[in-house]
Amino acid sequence: KNLVILISGGGSNMEAIVRTAQQRDWPGRLQARVAAVLSNRPDCAGLARARALGVPTAAVDHRAFAQAADPRGAFDAALADAIDAHAPELVLLAGFMRILTPGFVRHYAGRLVNIHPSLLPAFPGLHTHRRAIEAGCRVAGATVHRVTEELDHGPILDQVVVPVLPGDDEAALSARVLAQEHRMYPRVIERLLTAA
Ligand code: GRF
Repeated sequence: KNLVILISGGGSNMEAIVRTAQQRDWPGRLQARVAAVLSNRPDCAGLARARALGVPTAAVDHRAFAQAADPRGAFDAALADAIDAHAPELVLLAGFMRILTPGFVRHYAGRLVNIHPSLLPAFPGLHTHRRAIEAGCRVAGATVHRVTEELDHGPILDQVVVPVLPGDDEAALSARVLAQEHRMYPRVIERLLTAA
């Protein structure tokens, strides 16, 4: 079973997934491997990180489609071609910062999963930790969910809760949440693969 991971940034969740998949018993039992890490940003740190882990990478630069009649559609079609070359069981969004077209989402129905750094349905969108601190939340967290056409919605697969501590700034809260994301995301994938 192939997994494809889509990233735009640092790729720490990607690394957590790859390292879990590389553990001796995981591929053996579930027969799953990360076939490719793809990014819309050719220069993002996560692609170098994936290569260092021995995972094939490719970039589909969204800026190359700016002049197309339908830039988003053209980008998504090129991205889907790169993904489908691996016939993945699951397509995992891990800090992938592009809004996907409805056609793309439908094409991967049942296979597309995202991690979002808030307790959805609270705080969809950007700057989740800053917004949680500003709102006076006592807890924050992250959500792994199936991707539907509406951004940061879709059935919740798992959530993790962390405290917001007095004096927390965005960086401190984000680090606390991210550490838990790295534990949760691989576990959800394992559960989905086992159920499949
Ligand atoms: C994570 O907080 C994830 O929840 C969000 O973007 C961040 C990506 O971090 N979607 P990384 O690239 O996995 O380090």
